Amino acid sequence: MLKGSFELIGDKSISHRAIMFSSISKGHNKISNFLMGQDCLSTISCFRKMGVDIEINGADVFVKGNGLYGLKPPLDILDVGNSGTTIRLISGILAGNKFEATLIGDESIGKRPMKRVTDPLRLMGCKIEGKEDANFTPIKIYGGNLNAIDYKMTVASAQVKSALILASLYADGKSIIHEKVRSRNHTEIMLKSFGADITVEDLAININPVQELFSQNIYVPGDISSAAFIIVGALITKGSEVIIKNVGLNETRTGILDVVKNMNGNIEILNQRLVGGELVGDLLVKYSPDLNATTIDKAIIPRLIDEIPVIAVLATQAEGTTIIKDAKELKVKESNRIKAVVDNLKLMGADVEELEDGMVIKGKVSLKGANIKTFKDHRIAMAFSIADLGCDGDVILDNKSCIDISFPGYFKLLKDLSI
Ligand code: S3P
Repeated sequence: MLKGSFELIGDKSISHRAIMFSSISKGHNKISNFLMGQDCLSTISCFRKMGVDIEINGADVFVKGNGLYGLKPPLDILDVGNSGTTIRLISGILAGNKFEATLIGDESIGKRPMKRVTDPLRLMGCKIEGKEDANFTPIKIYGGNLNAIDYKMTVASAQVKSALILASLYADGKSIIHEKVRSRNHTEIMLKSFGADITVEDLAININPVQELFSQNIYVPGDISSAAFIIVGALITKGSEVIIKNVGLNETRTGILDVVKNMNGNIEILNQRLVGGELVGDLLVKYSPDLNATTIDKAIIPRLIDEIPVIAVLATQAEGTTIIKDAKELKVKESNRIKAVVDNLKLMGADVEELEDGMVIKGKVSLKGANIKTFKDHRIAMAFSIADLGCDGDVILDNKSCIDISFPGYFKLLKDLSI
């Protein structure tokens, strides 16, 4: 069982954005509770290569911003490692800056589609080259002289939206980005605090270029996507009771809380407060023996996209048939997460069927230990480490170090909470 309380590590999405926006602001920025995960460190490394002075001191990061037009041409290729957020968002910034830069990443990044970003950036007048018509790395961006756009997004993606908002900061007039479904809005919130001219009307985001962004002190709330693993662990293991402190509760991210409530999970929000424009609170989660199945589809998907692997584990412990659909995007994450989840759950004895855009899971089933293929995907590794908590036998992960991408210290925390 899991017992105890702990302070949650910083949010990955917000940490990336904090480094990027600080780097293109004017002045001294301080970022507290920054996530020292490999992905966010990749973002730091890319901006250092463009001449930004970034210093790490404990969980704080100090960034001396170069100003909106002050980044230097990188002397070296920009390597984003495993980070989809870095490569998508940085493309928007590079498109606006008058120099050439080449982006590469690891094997997983090499398979992740970039046309969703490079196509609209080309519409803004940016010259971009890359494998398969700039769909895959290496991608070379020749930035500068962007025209404004009025663009209807074709995928529900905060990464694409953010790249286009960032490029719009450098455009020659007002841009409008129309979302299909509302996705996480940390870019809009944080850029406004830096002085950007952004207004949001329903699914339309209006951006007017500004001369400069101005430095900030940013506190990064805890990452609900990381909390998700501990939430599910506590819900499915007998006797558990955990308090997770300092969880980011921005409503574009809290789909998992709605799902847990729909499934009759015992979860409570305590001590809600607003920090730097983002809602934060503590979560009290208790073992929930009477979980029921649920359906997860279109409107909620962007609000819990990264939590689906561990929600699938939860569904194996719920009575009835859980359906997850409209989640095709899962196929182009760090791994094909539909296949990775379905195949591994089958190995553990779950009743699960793969769909083109999701999966169907029938519960409640006693899981058994298995050798799990993580595909070096941090969220697959953590989801199955949670499946291990309630199963007969042992889960053996073929890779554990990938967890450092988003949750350094994960196994120590799990050990500290386990009694
Ligand atoms: C992210 C957005 C999501 C999410 C990713 C982080 C972000 O991707 O899966 O882990 O920080 O904007 P998409 O917006 O492409 O779905």
